[in-house]
Amino acid sequence: MTKPVRVAVTGAAGQISYSLLFRIATGDMLGQDQPIIFQLLEIPEAMGVLDGVVKELEDCSFPLLADITSGSDAEVIFGDTEIAILVGAKPRSLGMERSDLLAENAAIFSGQGKALNSSADRNVRVLVVGNPANSNALIAAMNAPDLPRSNFTAMMRLDHNRAIHQLAAKTGSHTSLIEKVAIWGNHSATQYPDLSNALVDKTPVAQLVDDNWIQRSFIPTVQQRGVAIQEARGSSSAASAASAAIDHIRTWVQGTPEGDWTSMAVATTGSYGIDTDLIASFPVECREGAYTIVEGLSFDAFSKKKIFDSISELKSERDAVRHLF
Ligand code: NAD
Ligand code: LMR
Repeated sequence: MTKPVRVAVTGAAGQISYSLLFRIATGDMLGQDQPIIFQLLEIPEAMGVLDGVVKELEDCSFPLLADITSGSDAEVIFGDTEIAILVGAKPRSLGMERSDLLAENAAIFSGQGKALNSSADRNVRVLVVGNPANSNALIAAMNAPDLPRSNFTAMMRLDHNRAIHQLAAKTGSHTSLIEKVAIWGNHSATQYPDLSNALVDKTPVAQLVDDNWIQRSFIPTVQQRGVAIQEARGSSSAASAASAAIDHIRTWVQGTPEGDWTSMAVATTGSYGIDTDLIASFPVECREGAYTIVEGLSFDAFSKKKIFDSISELKSERDAVRHLF
């Protein structure tokens, strides 16, 4: 039998996990031939609810689910984990910007970075979902000096998928025909959803939609989609966030389609003149289990300003949490 992969999920009793865990267990993330072991982390107060979730997972008799451990000690729960999906954090309430969560959630990620550093597999792939995801991922990475910085990522795939949907709807095409959409910067209202290189059924977007739609409708709709969902549901996106987390890890492990890319927030290494020591979103290609930032794209003045505005926000978030590094 194939060796199971150890998948740690934090915030395992929360909304996102209630969709995420069941979809991972059916093979949506790592494939139908890959058994998994769940290592589920919660705070002590939520262990009762998590116990119920574990019982439900057991009651599904998923063929791929080899074992489940759960608890509230991060060092124990992260033991030998090969994939860590860090969801556990407070969601924002209505009226809050994602940056308001920084102070409340940052401390969680310094502790979890340290715990990953001491007990996770040395090649653990880390995906931070809990907001503000980019800066939380930076805090975790900075507290895990023995693990590769490049293995710490934050989720932009929800924004990427939202952008694909908006473009498909506008052009009356199917989402599967959209390629080379990119999200740059921060998972926040400053993110830059970029259609400069996007194709719809191999046709450049510039031939199909005008700049006015891109600037006045497409960009703000993608930037503010989290709020729109929160206003409609009374709580933040959950199933779509879980789906995006699954897409993020699956693409990282299995690769991007030939000729296309995805968006991931990854450690900056100087590409496009962006500061190092940030976790920022770029278009990336994934091959053989590793991602590389797509280099060499050129920008007009509008795009450049949008990207650097979002990078400035990431720099100020970094300044606010530097004491945790
Ligand atoms: P939720 O409140 O339903 O669940 C969060 C869970 O995390 C709770 O069960 C809580 O007990 C747990 N938790 C809190 N601190 C923890 C800790 N230190 N260790 C382990 N678990 C802990 O929230 P949710 O709707 O599942 O959202 C979780 C996070 O994901 C929020 O921060 C939300 O803003 C964020 N989010 C991010 C994206 C994205 O695209 N990056 C999308 C949607 C939501
Ligand atoms: C989202 O984009 O839906 C999440 O980040 C939740 C939020 O607070 O917007």
